[in-house]
Amino acid sequence: MSTPKKKKNEHAYSKDVPMITKATAPAKAILLGEHFVVYGTGAILCAVQKYTSVSVEARSTGVRVSSRYGCDEFASGDDPKNASRHHRPILQIANDLGRGADVTIDSEIPPGVGLGSSSACCVAGAGAMLNQNGQDVEDLALRAEKSVFDGVSGADTAACLRGGLIEFGARGARSFEHAGVSLVVALTGREHSTAETVAAVRQNKERDEDAFGAVCEQVGGLIGDARSALDASDLVSLGAHMSQNQKFLTDIGVSDPTIDRIVAAAQRTSYGAKLTGAGAGGCVIALVDDSNAAKTLGSVEDAGATAFRVETDCDGLRIS
Ligand code: MEV
Repeated sequence: MSTPKKKKNEHAYSKDVPMITKATAPAKAILLGEHFVVYGTGAILCAVQKYTSVSVEARSTGVRVSSRYGCDEFASGDDPKNASRHHRPILQIANDLGRGADVTIDSEIPPGVGLGSSSACCVAGAGAMLNQNGQDVEDLALRAEKSVFDGVSGADTAACLRGGLIEFGARGARSFEHAGVSLVVALTGREHSTAETVAAVRQNKERDEDAFGAVCEQVGGLIGDARSALDASDLVSLGAHMSQNQKFLTDIGVSDPTIDRIVAAAQRTSYGAKLTGAGAGGCVIALVDDSNAAKTLGSVEDAGATAFRVETDCDGLRIS
């Protein structure tokens, strides 16, 4: 969807934006396709019920950002590169809109584990600053996310904005009707850097373009089949596809011994399990329902993970 270009200050606080605005965005999990999606293979994501809220109070000038990482004060127009990676996207959004703002970020999403804490913050930040939902928010949020790491695919931002289940491909995001899935999330205890793992995968690809291309093709097929399993609400088949996806992620070097141990434990009790997000630390997701969730929580905890069950968020970005 393309929208007419806006002038830089078109959204400046005025009649259409109240003095205080708040927006809330969900976390996301990638069910299939992370890393390969950067090369156009496609991915299936779902938004999950952990949330980040961003409150914005209008100021005539300057940007203050408070979060679990502390409080930073910037002059309007300061170079976002001088801000910490946690607060840089908010400064980028304020600069893009030519606004002063007092911004408070409240998040229950574990950071640096692949659940989209940064994307949810960008989406909620852009939604609160614009006091609206839609394509302008997505564009602004993605620019903010790229201020930290330019190589992102946009899949995470799309999921946090839209909620529910989405398929993300070369032509962007498409939501599809589904009641949602239930996941056990198992934290490895190690935060990761998306930029570093994406760079490592690029090196892997450049070492052997043909082999990487062949894996991408198989992942593309896997995603098509997984989509059919979702449409048929066939958890056994969907879980098997997720476990197969884990093998491809191991092949490109983004798994590690801790992830392997937790995935193996989760696969014994759930419908299927894999790392989600960038890998190299972060977390594992296991597909469950009421029949096997408790057992899966126990098995991943026995394997050393801290774990919780989470359901699909169907709403995406909410403005309040
Ligand atoms: C990170 O959550 C997912 C990656 O595929 C990067 C991206 O799609 O931007 C590793």
